[in-house]
Amino acid sequence: MLLTKDIYFEQSESFRIDDISLDIPKGEIVSLVGPNGSGKSTLLRLISRLIKPGKGEIVLDGQMISAMKSKDIAKKLAMLPQVQEKQSDLTVYELIEFGRYPHQRSQRKFTKEDEDIIQWAMDVTHLHAYRNRMLHSLSGGERQRAWIALALAQRPKILLLDEPTTFLDIAHQLDVMELVQELNKELNMTVLMVLHDINQAARYSNRLIVMKDGGICYDGTPRQVLTRDMFQSVFHIDAKIHKADDAAYYTPLKLR
Ligand SMILES: Nc1ncnc2c1ncn2[C@@H]1O[C@H](COP(=O)(O)OP(=O)(O)OP(=O)(O)O)[C@@H](O)[C@H]1O
Ligand SMILES: [Mg+2]
Repeated sequence: MLLTKDIYFEQSESFRIDDISLDIPKGEIVSLVGPNGSGKSTLLRLISRLIKPGKGEIVLDGQMISAMKSKDIAKKLAMLPQVQEKQSDLTVYELIEFGRYPHQRSQRKFTKEDEDIIQWAMDVTHLHAYRNRMLHSLSGGERQRAWIALALAQRPKILLLDEPTTFLDIAHQLDVMELVQELNKELNMTVLMVLHDINQAARYSNRLIVMKDGGICYDGTPRQVLTRDMFQSVFHIDAKIHKADDAAYYTPLKLR
């Protein structure tokens, strides 16, 4: 579904993404974790072609993204950015409508299918009551859900989420995680998301990728990746690891 081949990107003198090769098969839920400034958002921006790598290639559904039209990328891939642009003069409904633009053939009006998908995106993000509200009048969490709905309205095959739960209370965090699972199960959507809550990442993902200093240092199932060594070498904390059946989670103990 998604391949990155030896990607190199020089962000500044002090930071570069170096030699990242990834293979994310269709239908996987992958969480990207790692310290602040390790390059997670940069990697998502490279994958969605917001920035271009100095070297390497990104292949989406068999096609090199460097040769694709933006509209064709947007039909397959949607991204929730970590920091949303200011679009405060739009209503929730107007924002979500943007998700359908890549799918329109000409300047035609929205079809019944477009309308249905917009309704569905509002349903699953519980935004019906807010449809005519201006974005600037929403709370941080409500606005976050509106941006998630925009990404969903694209009906992407692969969904990139950069810290989708950051502004949300615990109930809405779980809501988003359950939604991700549902989209994955029912639509076979591939999901690559950045999360800081490693226990949440472990619970809801098939695979965890850990980044440090612009590179990937661990990649595997939550059970494989959650180890004391990983917490020590990447986050410099001591952690107790709990493993049961398929699940794994950790309790932080102290700074080393
Ligand atoms: N436009 C830019 N110009 C210069 N440096 C940048 C730019 N954008 C990001 N960086 C730097 O690149 C590094 C990686 O940033 P990135 O946003 O990918 O980190 P991250 O892993 O997403 O961190 P966080 O968990 O804080 O969101 C950081 O050191 C950051 O300061
Ligand atoms: Mg980030």
